Amino acid sequence: MSDLTQTPFDVRAEFPITEQYAFLNHASVSPIPLTTQTAITEFARDAAEEGPANYVGWLHSMALTRQAAGQVVGCAPEDICFVKSTNHGALIAANSINWREGDNVVGLQHEFPANMVPWHNLRERGVEFRTVPERGDYTYSIDAIAAQMDSRTRLLAVSWVEYSTGVRNDIAALAQLCRDRGVIFFIDGIQGLGVMPLNAEALGADFVTADGHKWMLAPEGCGVLYVRRERLAEMNLSMTGWCGLRNPQAYDDYLQPVKDTAARFEEGSHNLLAITALGASLRLLLAASLEKVHGSVEELVTRTMDGVRRLGYTVATPADPAQRAGIVSFTREGMDVEAVARGLMADHKISIAGRRGFLRVSPHFYNNEEEIDRLLEALPR
Ligand SMILES: Cc1ncc(COP(=O)(O)O)c(C=O)c1O
Repeated sequence: MSDLTQTPFDVRAEFPITEQYAFLNHASVSPIPLTTQTAITEFARDAAEEGPANYVGWLHSMALTRQAAGQVVGCAPEDICFVKSTNHGALIAANSINWREGDNVVGLQHEFPANMVPWHNLRERGVEFRTVPERGDYTYSIDAIAAQMDSRTRLLAVSWVEYSTGVRNDIAALAQLCRDRGVIFFIDGIQGLGVMPLNAEALGADFVTADGHKWMLAPEGCGVLYVRRERLAEMNLSMTGWCGLRNPQAYDDYLQPVKDTAARFEEGSHNLLAITALGASLRLLLAASLEKVHGSVEELVTRTMDGVRRLGYTVATPADPAQRAGIVSFTREGMDVEAVARGLMADHKISIAGRRGFLRVSPHFYNNEEEIDRLLEALPR
């Protein structure tokens, strides 16, 4: 990819996965770059040889990750809360809002369960969860979303990018809709963060949550939650804990105030190993530049879409680049997509996924055209 020639590191060398596989499955669980492997082993060596002697250094590493996360999400570092999963971020939002019986949440029909289960479970508190049907072209209509809202709608929960079809929702338009109606705007960002730049603050999102294990190229089980600063005052403290207190080391002061940042929801001991790893991955993406990462992914996605169309597949992902990100989903009548994905791995060392009846291809910026062509060659005709 020509526009990555200025990248201040050898892109392909950072991804030893390329030596064995055509890994085109970043919408699932991604490989980590070498720099992150090094950060993990260095942390592990330190912990083994020194115990917690260098704890101050570990905390510094967390601060650096928070800074990098702020740059990726588009907010101040203080608006980032580390979470253990996308779903954990949704739970913090769902459980910290002071619901009133009869309130409702609006969501979308075919979302990943991490962005469904927390809202469904609010029924125990008398909160209704309404979903907007997907259209025939797999997109969601803003008008249909607006039509589901009424005076009791408190929150809209959508994915930035839909996991099964690759449809990118118009989060700017949805943010405006929420602003106009006084509705809290929650985004599951995991299929977009790390592929495209975001400015959560300027956008007007209230919550953006994502684990690190997909496009952010970090290990599973550690991610970020953005919380808009102005929302903190209206949220309850049921998801906070001792580490969320202003001075956690004042061990006897149980009733002290909580932090005035999103870190109030980091309830107990941090996963400093995983946070350090996440920081290494995010800095790599920032060094490459998210604009360039997106440009590279977009080229590979276009090549994939054109290729599978030529092979006669029906493509679910929109042709308009503004309505997609890094996922291309396609199918053919009667195809067992899981079996095809398994066969590609077993016979060709090509990693893609089968989801909801679609073959799902999700290249990242370090993939190249040859890998896409290998896939196109190997797909059933
Ligand atoms: C849209 C979306 N949200 C969330 C997740 C994963 O959630 P978690 O980080 O809670 O495991 C996925 C994983 O496939 C996803 O595609």
